[in-house]
Amino acid sequence: MTDFSENAVRSGLILGIETSCDETAAAVVRGGSETLSNVVASQIATHSPYGGVVPELASREHLRNIVPVVRAAVQEAGIALADVDAIAVTSGPGLAGALLVGISYAKSLAYALGKPLIAVNHLEGHIHAVLLEQAELARRSNPKLSDTEPLPLPAIALVVSGGHTHLYLVRRHGESWRYKNVGRTVDDAAGEAFDKVAKLLGLGYPGGPWIDALAPHGNPATVPFSFSQIKAKAHRRGRSGALDPAAETFFSFSGIKTAVLRYTQVHEMAAGIEARRAALADEPGAKPLDALPLCDKQTLDLIASFQRAVVDDLRHKTFRASEQFGAESLLVSGGVAANRELRVRFTSEAAERALPIAFPLLALSTDNAAMIAAAAYPKLITDDFAPATLTADPSLALGGRDGR
Ligand code: KG4
Ligand code: ZN
Repeated sequence: MTDFSENAVRSGLILGIETSCDETAAAVVRGGSETLSNVVASQIATHSPYGGVVPELASREHLRNIVPVVRAAVQEAGIALADVDAIAVTSGPGLAGALLVGISYAKSLAYALGKPLIAVNHLEGHIHAVLLEQAELARRSNPKLSDTEPLPLPAIALVVSGGHTHLYLVRRHGESWRYKNVGRTVDDAAGEAFDKVAKLLGLGYPGGPWIDALAPHGNPATVPFSFSQIKAKAHRRGRSGALDPAAETFFSFSGIKTAVLRYTQVHEMAAGIEARRAALADEPGAKPLDALPLCDKQTLDLIASFQRAVVDDLRHKTFRASEQFGAESLLVSGGVAANRELRVRFTSEAAERALPIAFPLLALSTDNAAMIAAAAYPKLITDDFAPATLTADPSLALGGRDGR
């Protein structure tokens, strides 16, 4: 199946395809560092009435969108399909039916064109969204540099989205990247908490951007939410004052959602929530700030306090992990990395610690295929191709505890 030459590796033109959740996306990236196109068809309007992603509807929408989205990505890149050196596709984690649409399409395309197929883990994609942008910035400032190290390594990566809250220790081994999973959520993902809290407060879907827009209008010190510090003992410093590198970091976001719900019950906020839900239902194209006049001070304070608590928990544990593993830089990616308060508070702590930190552009924070094509480039160089039997792995993990 592989018919590619040195030239292919040098130009490294990769068509990436991503269908793991509710975005149908395709992109063309050259050499892992130059985005020629990045097309995303969002399904937000389809899932919005249900307040969450409906798997069957997601698969149906992917089927409808995959051909036009790939065609648009190839056209925008100004290339012909036959020019690509490889097809990369997300193989997991994600919704089985949704993943299968992208995988089947990528497989047939690779077969028909006689090009290699590369399987990419969605979480690795999120990490490469940041590396892609760093590489683009470096290349633009000095086009002669062909292989710059985008960030000082090792790095700690926080991947924080609607489905995931993970910490990885990121290293490079020759051309390949290595990831060690050093932290994870034991229940809900952070983005899921944003979505559920927004839903229970009668706001729109997905909830993150709504809470992000409304939080600056409230007082974050009003409700003192706290998180259970799971396995905090393992993080105690030893005699030398160092943190134990064997200690895994755990996040837990289901408790705060219940705490917000209880707060609304104790403070009898149900009528206001229902009124807001009804008003927004009457206005299908409503934007997050349209909800501002529909929120009283108590609601805005609650939103601000919720966001501050989640951001600070993520910040505290991410910086602790960076210290624990002697990280030289930090990168934050995934849908929740679009959050403005998160960016501000992470950036200021990183500055205090003189630690380089990078976030992807907003368009690369949420799901897209440029990150998949970028993550595939090191695999193209190292002949790390997927077998023709590739199938969806809904619970695919990235980098075990051993860092492979
Ligand atoms: O990475 P992504 O597009 O899809 C998954 O892989 O899950 O992330 C979507 C998640 C949703 O939970 C959404 O509410 C959250 O990212 N999100 C945000 C913001 N924008 C998107 N959360 C907080 N603040 C935001 N500005
Ligand atoms: Zn994602």
